[in-house]
Amino acid sequence: MEVPSCQCRSSYDDCKKTADWLLVRTKQRPRVAIICGSGLGALADLIDDKIVFPYQDIPVAGHAGQLVFGKLQDRECVCMQGRFHYYEGYSIDTVTYPVRVFFLLGVETLIVTNAAGGLNGSYNVGDIMVIKDHINLPGFCGQSPLVGHNDDRFGVRFPCMSDAYDRNLRTLAIQTAHEQNCGGFLQEGVYCMVAGPTFETIAECNILQKFGVDAVGMSTVPEVVAARQCGLRVLGLSLITNKAVTDYDSNEKANHEEVLATTGLRARDLQRLVRHLVTKI
Ligand SMILES: *[C@@H]1O[C@H](CO)[C@@H](O)[C@H](O)[C@H]1NC(C)=O
Repeated sequence: MEVPSCQCRSSYDDCKKTADWLLVRTKQRPRVAIICGSGLGALADLIDDKIVFPYQDIPVAGHAGQLVFGKLQDRECVCMQGRFHYYEGYSIDTVTYPVRVFFLLGVETLIVTNAAGGLNGSYNVGDIMVIKDHINLPGFCGQSPLVGHNDDRFGVRFPCMSDAYDRNLRTLAIQTAHEQNCGGFLQEGVYCMVAGPTFETIAECNILQKFGVDAVGMSTVPEVVAARQCGLRVLGLSLITNKAVTDYDSNEKANHEEVLATTGLRARDLQRLVRHLVTKI
């Protein structure tokens, strides 16, 4: 009897086709890729000598957003302006597809940014958190980008995640943050991904705090898992855009407008940090 296997992962050849399509259209060979989180896409506007590919033009993509090749402070990089979110209905495979393409383009370092809710009581809205570790909550329930047939050309079947966020990059980020006057609102902590799109209930926030989570959001982790499998070094930065509500007597309510307003305020600091960081990588 033939047992059908899960076909949830795009093939190596699909990713290769996309990478080759890009490689013939740009002479740039970036070693650093940046994924811009919600409200943080303006970073791509700072790129010089831009070559822009709207996602809808790239084979197998198809989404609002664009891939921007160019230079940040003279360092070649490629930037995803607009990422794919699981809550938008994309499969975890689609969410991580660009990361595998980056790998095939020759990228070695991935910088991911996101907007997140602060769960650590000592965090303030507007803080920038260097991600030290993550909890892959969707992964607990089987939503991992590595489920399905494993092609060894991307990496091993059971990759290690205890060193997911590169220690040297974290040190470099903290050092650069101090040089760029961001030290006063810098944190380092644990990020947890939830699928969303609802914000968390109070009971859920209480669980996450007990898990040791400092910030919670709806992205990043699948991309990091895929990146680590294929050996990319990863740096993650969360902008704390709201404080999660953990008290039943509170009248505070998480809302997307607050998230966007805060992102607007601190996004420029985060951009400056990333821009100076890439020159040191
Ligand atoms: C919260 O953040 C502070 C400062 O970064 C840290 O020392 C602490 O361990 C974190 N966790 C909790 C539960 O307070």
